[in-house]
Amino acid sequence: MTENRIIAVANQKGGVGKTTTVINLGASLAMNDCDVLLIDFDPQVNATAGLGIRETSGNNISTLILGENSLEEVLEPTGVDGLMLVPGSRSLSGLEIELAGAEYREYLLKEALEDSTGSFDYVLIDCPPSLGLLTINALVASNEVLVTLQSEYYALEGLSHLMDTVRNIRQLWNPRLKINGVVLTMFDRRLILSRDVEEEVREFMGSTLYNTYIPRNVKLSEAPSYGIPVVMYDAKSKGAISYLDLAREVMNR
Ligand SMILES: Nc1ncnc2c1ncn2[C@@H]1O[C@H](COP(=O)(O)OP(=O)(O)OP(=O)(O)O)[C@@H](O)[C@H]1O
Ligand SMILES: [Mg+2]
Repeated sequence: MTENRIIAVANQKGGVGKTTTVINLGASLAMNDCDVLLIDFDPQVNATAGLGIRETSGNNISTLILGENSLEEVLEPTGVDGLMLVPGSRSLSGLEIELAGAEYREYLLKEALEDSTGSFDYVLIDCPPSLGLLTINALVASNEVLVTLQSEYYALEGLSHLMDTVRNIRQLWNPRLKINGVVLTMFDRRLILSRDVEEEVREFMGSTLYNTYIPRNVKLSEAPSYGIPVVMYDAKSKGAISYLDLAREVMNR
């Protein structure tokens, strides 16, 4: 691979599987021999906790984007070979206010990552559930955006708002930003609702919708409490298999 792929996993809606996707897609890519960097860019620090890593006061995403640490200094290994993490920080939530009016405030993450992520094949950024400054920073630093969509009504309304935001970001700050794809999460094929949403999203997004969908699977919600990705918790579970399938599809896009 000549250039690495920086992918923001975003949706302004809460609880739609962003963090679960960052952890488990990341682990699945690493199991396919890719070097993967995860960035916990959400003040909820769920991705950090879900990988069994404790938040520290220094050496985290906040000190990285404020230029107090280099990427190398904040990297933490995870239990998965080839999977590294930039730990999150609760103090990231103050960024919006601290930086109100500051010049180049949309470029902080981009600048922190530029010239230092070359050894990774994939960089996955876990975004918070909003379209505020943090998500804007993530989208400005990325070349692709992967949208997780929970299979429920109103999912599409949020999606069109997010697509508008992506268009704005392209015009204002990052012309290279592409839609990587949309993945349906917590999908239940037995439910008419799930199938309806799938059909609607397919109509609206065409082939950007991934063929792989992530089923509702209890192993996916249990694994974070052990601080490990689902492939290490139960490799035979439907959740683990679906994220390995998704990784293969992502690698082919
Ligand atoms: N496919 C799934 N099957 C079962 N549970 C899931 C699945 N995906 C996610 N969950 C659970 O649903 C909850 C929300 O998921 P997750 O934290 O990944 O969403 P999120 O979009 O990152 O949320 P937030 O917007 O708050 O950051 C979590 O408790 C998670 O364990
Ligand atoms: Mg999350």
